[in-house]
Amino acid sequence: MLRRWVWSPCLLLLGAAGDSCFVHLKKPLEAPPFSAAEEAELWRLFEANVNVNGLGAVIASPGACPAQVDCCGIMDPMPYGFHWTRDASLSLLTLLERVERSTRHNDEPVSMAPSLRGWRTSDSTLPKLRSDVEKTIVAYAAWVARMHGRTRLAGNLESVQSAAEEAFVEPKWSFDGEPYRGGWCRPQTDGPALRARLLMRAAEIFPHLVNETLWPLAQKDLDWLVEHHSMESCDLWEETRDSDFLWNRVVQLAALVEGHHFATDPVLKRRYLDAAQQKGKLWPTTWRTTVQGKSS
Ligand SMILES: *[C@@H]1O[C@H](CO)[C@@H](O)[C@H](O)[C@H]1NC(C)=O
Repeated sequence: MLRRWVWSPCLLLLGAAGDSCFVHLKKPLEAPPFSAAEEAELWRLFEANVNVNGLGAVIASPGACPAQVDCCGIMDPMPYGFHWTRDASLSLLTLLERVERSTRHNDEPVSMAPSLRGWRTSDSTLPKLRSDVEKTIVAYAAWVARMHGRTRLAGNLESVQSAAEEAFVEPKWSFDGEPYRGGWCRPQTDGPALRARLLMRAAEIFPHLVNETLWPLAQKDLDWLVEHHSMESCDLWEETRDSDFLWNRVVQLAALVEGHHFATDPVLKRRYLDAAQQKGKLWPTTWRTTVQGKSS
């Protein structure tokens, strides 16, 4: 067992927890681990990071980052003051889940972990939550439409020849709606898949926005995905490159399958299903080789 000799904080925990950095619970909690007041505060802070300046952008970790100051003396007051393609979709999906969860009745089956079942918004705050989240989604859709409407190429990637293409592969945006101009690990191909999934989920919750706003945008991402699902990408941690990362593959497959179910046009239905099947077929050999290669 080589890992005993490698020094890292994770390994200190390994001894206590068994096989990972996470300390597992013996069984699910009976009740939420936070008070209602703490939960409300958490959501208040969360919602302060969406629809930045009313422009639909999502900001991650505004403000100083003490860990960066400690480790590297980085004093930037807003080290993460950007709109991140991946983070924006995941954060807004979390908000949509909150609306969905609050709408369900107690006796309906829920797919979330049992420990979270107590998390419900009270009936009196639900209409406000719904309308706030709807506003956020409408603003976000406008932000995405502006990304697609750009005509001036930022030119961060040699292989990308048009501003329109940058809307799909750029992971990091400033709040003027332009791609971040510094060096970064590009392209990142999970963005369109996550964004399409978010837009389709939002369309289920706010069906009156489907035809005019949400589906046309989701369709752009799905159509891009059909053509580019084998494109080489940076990984989730923005360190290495491959055309077959598990995360990218899973979210791309999910988006294509959901797109197949969501579309009503039979031609689109077929196109998304074909792409999902094509992507799925690539799985076994490459994926197994990688996993076996790393574990031996
Ligand atoms: C959206 O368009 C479809 C197909 O034209 C139509 O059947 C549906 O009623 C429309 N939905 C809304 C909410 O307008």
